[in-house]
Amino acid sequence: QVDILYLQIIKCFGLFVFLFLSGQTLFKVVVKSLSPKELVRIHVPKPLDRNDGTFLVRYRMYETVNEGLKIEILYGNEHVAQSPYILKGPVYHEYCECPEQDPQAWQRTLSCPTQEPQIEEDFASFPSINLQQMLKEVPKRFGDERGAVVHYTILNNRIYRRSLGKYTDFKMFSDEILLSLARKVLLPDLEFYINLGDWPLEHRKASDIPGPIPIISWCGSLDSRDVILPTYDITHSTLEAMRGVTNDLLSIQGNTGPSWINKTEKAFFRGRDSREERLQLVQLSKENPQLLDAGITGYFFFQEKEKELGKAKLMGFFDFFKYKYQVNVDGTVAAYRYPYLMLGDSLVLKQDSPYYEHFYVALRPWKHYVPIKRNLSDLLEKIKWAKENDEEAKKIAKEGQLTARDLLQPHRLYCYYYSVLQKYAERQSSKPEIRDGMELVPQPDDNTSICRCHRKRLSREEL
Ligand SMILES: *[C@@H]1O[C@H](CO)[C@@H](O)[C@H](O)[C@H]1NC(C)=O
Ligand SMILES: *[C@@H]1O[C@H](CO)[C@@H](O)[C@H](O)[C@H]1NC(C)=O
Ligand SMILES: *[C@@H]1O[C@H](CO)[C@@H](O)[C@H](O)[C@H]1NC(C)=O
Repeated sequence: QVDILYLQIIKCFGLFVFLFLSGQTLFKVVVKSLSPKELVRIHVPKPLDRNDGTFLVRYRMYETVNEGLKIEILYGNEHVAQSPYILKGPVYHEYCECPEQDPQAWQRTLSCPTQEPQIEEDFASFPSINLQQMLKEVPKRFGDERGAVVHYTILNNRIYRRSLGKYTDFKMFSDEILLSLARKVLLPDLEFYINLGDWPLEHRKASDIPGPIPIISWCGSLDSRDVILPTYDITHSTLEAMRGVTNDLLSIQGNTGPSWINKTEKAFFRGRDSREERLQLVQLSKENPQLLDAGITGYFFFQEKEKELGKAKLMGFFDFFKYKYQVNVDGTVAAYRYPYLMLGDSLVLKQDSPYYEHFYVALRPWKHYVPIKRNLSDLLEKIKWAKENDEEAKKIAKEGQLTARDLLQPHRLYCYYYSVLQKYAERQSSKPEIRDGMELVPQPDDNTSICRCHRKRLSREEL
C-alpha cells in the first residue's frame, strides 16, 4: 500500500515536471509520450528524495510530443492514486521556438502570482520610463571603460543588443534567459539596459532632479534604485539543470545530508575572501572550534591573510548540509549561495545586509532564518541560542525551507522575468527601436532546436 498524501504536477514549458509524492520510496515513475507512435527521448533522472517523505521527479525533453505526455506512477506493476496522469496536447522541448501568443494564457498555465512585492517596489520610482533620456544618459554615466552594461531592444519577439563597456561577457546569461523566454511566450516590445556587474548602479533618489533611471540588475541594495531580476546564478542553473549543471535549485533539495538529529551541531562556512567579515568568521572559528567551522577557499582581495588564516578545501553545497547551522555572509554584494542554503534543511544564520536578491522580501528574521549583526558581534551568541533551543531552531529551518521551495520553483523565475519586462514595457513613453551598433541575438539554429510548432504564429510579413 503506497500512501500518496499529496501530489502536484506542474506542466511547465516542456522542461520540467515536478511530482511531489508523499510516501515510500518503492514507487517508479515513467514519463512517456501519450501516443505509442511518437518515439521521443525524455530524460528522467532518479527521483530526488527530500528526506521529509516527499520526492521530486524531474524530466527533460529533447523532442516535442504532439499528442501529449503520460506520467505513470507505479508501485510494483500497479498504478497508484490517479495514475496514469495525462498532459494533453503538444508539449514542447526547451529549444523549440513556439511562443504562446497570449501572455496572459501563458501566465495562467504557469500559475504566476498576480503580484510580486519586490517588482511593485522597484517600479514605484518609475511611473514612466523615458527612453530618450536613457539613451542620452546611460552611456555617459555607466558605459565607460569599466562598464558592464548591455543595451537590449526586443522587437517582434526578436532580441537585439549592443555592449557598453568592456566587461560584458556575462551577457551570455542575460541572452540565454531572454532567448528562452522568447521561445515560450510573446515578449512585449521594449528597450532596456542590463547591468552585468555585481553592484547596483543607480544611486539617485526618486526626488532628485534629474531623477533615477531604471537600470536592470541582478542584485539590489537599500541605497540604490535598480530594478532587479533573479540572479544569473540561479537563472543559469535552472536553465541548464539536467544538462551541464548539477548544483541547481532542485537537485539541492534531494541532497540535504543527514537528518536534523544527525547533523553536526556547529555553524559552517566555506567561501572566498570577498568581504572582510568572512575573514573575521575564520578567526572566530579558530577561537571557537566547538561552535563554528569556517574556512576561506580562495584568496584574492586579502592575499596577505592567507598565511595567517590558511586555506580550506573547496566543498560542494551538498556537503554543507552535514552541519546544522549555515552562516550566510555577503560577498562583494549579496551572497548568491543564499537561495541554496535556504533550500537545505539546516538553519541559516544570515548576516544583516543592505543587499538583496529578488525573493528576500518574502523572508522574515526569526521566522525563516536567524539574523546576525553585520559586524558578526552576536554570531557566537546566536549559535549558542540555536544549540540550546533545538526545537525552535528546527522549526525556523523548516519554515525557511518550505518558503524557499515555493518561491524558487523554476516556473516562478520565468514568471518573475516576464513580469519585470511587462511592467517595464507598460511604462515606456516612446517606441523601442533597434539602435546603431545593435546585433540580433539568434535563437539556436541546429538540429537540437527542431520542432513543429502548432501555435498560430505571426508570419514575418505581419511582424
Ligand atoms: C542517525 O544516524 C544513525 C547512525 O548512522 C542511523 O542509524 C539513524 O537511522 C540516523 N537517524 C536518522 C533519523 O536518520
Ligand atoms: C557591532 O555593531 C553594533 C551595531 O549593530 C554595535 O553596537 C557594536 O558596537 C559593534 N561591535 C563591534 C565589536 O564593533
Ligand atoms: C545533430 O547533429 C550532430 C552533428 O551534425 C549529430 O552528431 C547528432 O547526432 C544530431 N542530433 C540529432 C538529435 O539528430
